[in-house]
Amino acid sequence: MARVAVVTGGTRGIGEAISVALKNAGYKVAANYAGNDERAKAFEARTGIKVYKWDVSTLEECAAGVKKIESELGPIEVIVNNAGITRDGTMKKMARQAWDEVLDTNLGGCFNMCKAGWEGMLARGFGRIVNIGSINGQAGQYGQVNYAAAKSGIHGFTKALGQEGAAKGITVNAIAPGYIDTDMVAAVPPDVLAKIVARIPVGRLGKADEIARGVLFLVADEGGFITGSTMSINGGQHMY
Ligand code: CAA
Repeated sequence: MARVAVVTGGTRGIGEAISVALKNAGYKVAANYAGNDERAKAFEARTGIKVYKWDVSTLEECAAGVKKIESELGPIEVIVNNAGITRDGTMKKMARQAWDEVLDTNLGGCFNMCKAGWEGMLARGFGRIVNIGSINGQAGQYGQVNYAAAKSGIHGFTKALGQEGAAKGITVNAIAPGYIDTDMVAAVPPDVLAKIVARIPVGRLGKADEIARGVLFLVADEGGFITGSTMSINGGQHMY
C-alpha cells in the first residue's frame, strides 16, 4: 500500500518539488497551502496531487486538515513541514507582528502538524517526519532575527522529537536548505542576493529538486536508523 504523505506549503517552491518527488516515488500525496488559490489550482491540475487549504499556524486547522486527508487518502505516515514565510527587516525596523507571524508559521506550524499526526503514528508504530529548516537557522542572517530564530528552533525541535519517536518507529529529521531558486529567494533585493550567491562555493543557487532528493532519502522505509539529524544542502555555503 502506498504511504500517505502530507507536505505543508506543498504547492509552490521547494514544497512543490517535494510533493512531486514523493508522488513520483509512489506516495499518495496531499499538498497543503495557505493562501494562493490560483497557484494551488494550477498545481493540482498540472500534477494530479490533491490540495488542501489551511493555515499551519493554527492548531485546530492542522487537526481538521489531517483528519480530512486521513478520511480521503488514509492514515498519514509522512509529514513534511515545509511551510514557511519571511518578514525580513533589521531589528530597528522589525515590528512585533513580523516576529509573531514568522514564529507562528515556521516553527508553530511544525508543532501543530506533528501534534495532529503524532498519535496516529505512535499507534501504527511508523512515521517519517522531515522539517525544513534553513542555513539561516544554522548561521544567522542579517535582517532575519525572526526567521533565523524560527528555523534554529526547528533544528532543536527535530532533535527533541527525534528522541521521543526513536523507540516507536518514528524518525524526525531536518533539512537545512541554503539559497534555493524560489519566489522567496527572488524577493531578496538583487544587489544583496548577488553578494550572497558570490559566497556559495558551488557558484549558483540551489534547485528545489535538490532539496526534494534529500526528503526522499530521509522518508524512505530503509531510513529507520536516521533520526534527529540535519542534512545541510547549501552548495557548501555553510559547513556545519
Ligand atoms: N552584514 C552587515 N551589514 C549589512 C548586511 C550584512 N549581511 N546587509 C546589509 N547590511 C547593512 C547595509 O550595508 C546598510 O548599511 P549602511 O546603512 O551603513 O549603508 C544597512 O545594513 C542597511 O541595509 P539595507 O539598505 O539593505 O537595509 P534595509 O532596511 O533596506 O533592508 C534587509 C534590510 C531587509 C535585511 C535587506 O538587506 C535584505 O532583504 N537582506 C536579505 C536578507 C536575506 O538574506 N533573507 C533571506 C530570504 S530567503 C530565505 O530566508 C530562504 C532561506 O532559508 C535561505
